[in-house]
Amino acid sequence: MKTLIQKLVETFSPSGYEAAIREVIRAEVAPLADEVRVDALGNLIARKGNPNGKKIMLAAHMDEIGLMVTHVDDNGFVRFTTLGGVRPHTLLGGRVRFLNGKAGVIGMERVEDQTKLPTFEQLFIDIGATTREQCPLRVGDVAAFERPFLDLGKRIIAKSLDDRIGAAVLIETLRQLGQTPHNIYFVFSVQEEVGVRGATTAAFGVDPDLGLAVDVTGAGDTPKCAPMDVSLGKGPAIKVRDAGMLADPRIVDWMIRGADAAKIPYQLEILERGGTDARAIQLTRAGVPAGCLSIPCRYVHSPSEMVDFDDVENAVRLMVQLLSQPVDL
Ligand code: CO
Ligand code: ZN
Repeated sequence: MKTLIQKLVETFSPSGYEAAIREVIRAEVAPLADEVRVDALGNLIARKGNPNGKKIMLAAHMDEIGLMVTHVDDNGFVRFTTLGGVRPHTLLGGRVRFLNGKAGVIGMERVEDQTKLPTFEQLFIDIGATTREQCPLRVGDVAAFERPFLDLGKRIIAKSLDDRIGAAVLIETLRQLGQTPHNIYFVFSVQEEVGVRGATTAAFGVDPDLGLAVDVTGAGDTPKCAPMDVSLGKGPAIKVRDAGMLADPRIVDWMIRGADAAKIPYQLEILERGGTDARAIQLTRAGVPAGCLSIPCRYVHSPSEMVDFDDVENAVRLMVQLLSQPVDL
């Protein structure tokens, strides 16, 4: 599974530009699913199971946060805006890669006050050009963080574990799932990081009876971090609430019962900032019971996110357990 994770995180596909990652995931799921399609926004939807069963929508987003060129100056320096929740302090000293293959380093104007964080207006990308004419980029070109995948054994460090790790969990669940009474839609959604846009149309199109997102959540186990009762390595987290959703209590109970039955460790999650595709599923049409299984993750939305591999494997086990049995909410 680590080989799969590496392949997913080393693909560059910021929000709205998911073509590359969609082809990587399509190649993985096509041999495993009964049917695969892509909707108008670019969501990849793989269906498996009994066409007359309960319709269950699973969602993991394919997109990642990134940068978009707003201006190239006379000397070939590139100014940019963000795609999704990028924070300036995570960019310093970093490298980016554009979809056209060009790479660059993020530089910063001289700062008067060393105690203040820079603003995006003070940052630029240097791709080694010396004039605007020489710069092979133009307004609207898109980049993602350039960082290699690191395997520390139990723990993994990479860019875009948010949410390629969720995509990996869905792919592995699809691979391991045998017989199921359900009609399961594995949705690899687009544009989550700019406001769950892909999941919004996918959920409308699938019209599920219930829904689950698989995404990362924060962790409260690093020095002087914001308090949060989730740690790496203590099991996948069953979401109770986040800023965008109160998880359906029936779904929370169903997930807890499944984890208890299979003796899978789990944590209960309250994330005070941020949301997931589950919100879009819950609020589609006339409403859908929805929840989320989270992979605890340190340094979310930085170029070096970290998860614990045991949590990833236990997330797959719990998904397979839940989806292979009848659902009684
Ligand atoms: Co995110
Ligand atoms: Zn995410």
